[in-house]
Amino acid sequence: MPTTIQLIHNDCLEGMTRMPSGETDLVVTSPPYNLGIDYNTYQDTKDRNSFITWCLEWAAEVKRVMAVDASFFLNVGAAPKNPLLPHQLLLALTDGDNPLFILQNTFHWVKSISVETRGGETISAGHFKPINSQRYVNDCHEYVFHLSKTGTVQLDRRGAGVPYADKSNINRWGHTGGEDKRCRGNTWFIPYDTIQSRAKERPHPATFPVGLVQQCIRLHGKGETTNMLDPFNGIGTSAVAALRSNISSYMGFDIDEDYLEVTKERLLVEKEDLSEHS
Ligand SMILES: C[S@@+](CC[C@H](N)C(=O)[O-])C[C@H]1O[C@@H](n2cnc3c(N)ncnc32)[C@H](O)[C@@H]1O
Repeated sequence: MPTTIQLIHNDCLEGMTRMPSGETDLVVTSPPYNLGIDYNTYQDTKDRNSFITWCLEWAAEVKRVMAVDASFFLNVGAAPKNPLLPHQLLLALTDGDNPLFILQNTFHWVKSISVETRGGETISAGHFKPINSQRYVNDCHEYVFHLSKTGTVQLDRRGAGVPYADKSNINRWGHTGGEDKRCRGNTWFIPYDTIQSRAKERPHPATFPVGLVQQCIRLHGKGETTNMLDPFNGIGTSAVAALRSNISSYMGFDIDEDYLEVTKERLLVEKEDLSEHS
């Protein structure tokens, strides 16, 4: 069955109140980070306390719609002058006597990396927004916080894993079950696709790559039975990942109608591509 996709032009806070409790298996989202990004409709300039209060409101709705064994992957980045924002948000969501969520895993989404190989060569890959500063280095990563209701949600570590570099490890470690897959760990190098024209190919100021969402879907590991939500759809990167992963359903909200139109166009292209390959 193809993935059922619903795109809803609405404030997610209002829209989620129409969703049933406990039926969403997977939430992957990147909310506005309150860093003054120039979105079409949303004003990304709240004061810090109002921003955290707003996040607690929509996160409570996310929790209500989540099944007990659901996973919530929350992508948040920072800015050099505002480095603590992801941690402040995380604390608000997980701290106190009656926290909304348990932090189960912290992933570092690495957008760009330079690696010195054993042969002495330096390889650089990926993209980042250059910072023109003598004080700060380029910021090449963001966080993906894996939150759950209980802290005990099972993940498909090897489903989202990587092959062993040294194949003798396959038989050395009993937990491999003879399969050439090991847990990838919590640093994910996932670059953006290279594009020629931002306006035409990625008309949104703050997207994540499809591969990041696909990695969350693989880790969740429930395949075709998954009902997924992205309350902050943007131009539908999560929707594209849902379609490529052939999960059961996807629901996305955005307050900007143009972003939802771009999502529809992306999905049309995607469906043509998928049918060419099938
Ligand atoms: C960081 S972007 C998400 C980008 C998305 N991950 C992608 O790759 O296309 C955040 C999005 O949230 C939307 N937004 C802001 N407030 C919203 C709200 N209350 N309800 C729904 N969407 C909202 C903005 O219009 C923006 O597109």
